[in-house]
Amino acid sequence: MSFSFDSFVADIRAAADGPDANAKVRAEIERCITNPDQIVAATPADGEDEVMLFEDQSVSIWWCRFQPHVVMPPHEHLLEVHIGAYAGAEKNIVFTQTGGRLAHDFTRVVRAGEMLSLDRDCIHAVTADGDVRSLALHVYMGPLMQLTRGLFDWDTGDKIDFTMENFNQMKRPASALAAY
Ligand SMILES: [Fe+2]
Repeated sequence: MSFSFDSFVADIRAAADGPDANAKVRAEIERCITNPDQIVAATPADGEDEVMLFEDQSVSIWWCRFQPHVVMPPHEHLLEVHIGAYAGAEKNIVFTQTGGRLAHDFTRVVRAGEMLSLDRDCIHAVTADGDVRSLALHVYMGPLMQLTRGLFDWDTGDKIDFTMENFNQMKRPASALAAY
């Protein structure tokens, strides 16, 4: 069966509605990324890197493209998120915040066909691993864009308002990532 983002949104909305939503959403993403080339074919080759497909109170559905030379700054979602990679490899650098400081918890590279689920209190920075862009489906278990969220200063761990201006200003080159 061919993939379309419209049918993906419909299937995820159905999965997110009712009991066992997390398990059902995960299973739906997992099913889709077993045929990653079909999702790549449905993804615009250029334009926006992070595209919201749908959002309501129960679920927010995105696809995200990351580039290997730039790292998105540490940020929180305040929601559980299920990530399913379908091209390249998405590198997730996960932190905890203890006593106001960021501590590196773990790094996980999610390759095409693999999944990663993060808890609602998770803080991560994200980039593409390797030499090529990554593509992944990101499903957040609630209304992501309605939440007041934070970014975290790379060095001090200070929490900063999540605005696009701050987000863009805090991106780092991949060369700064040697420690992670
Ligand atoms: Fe994120």
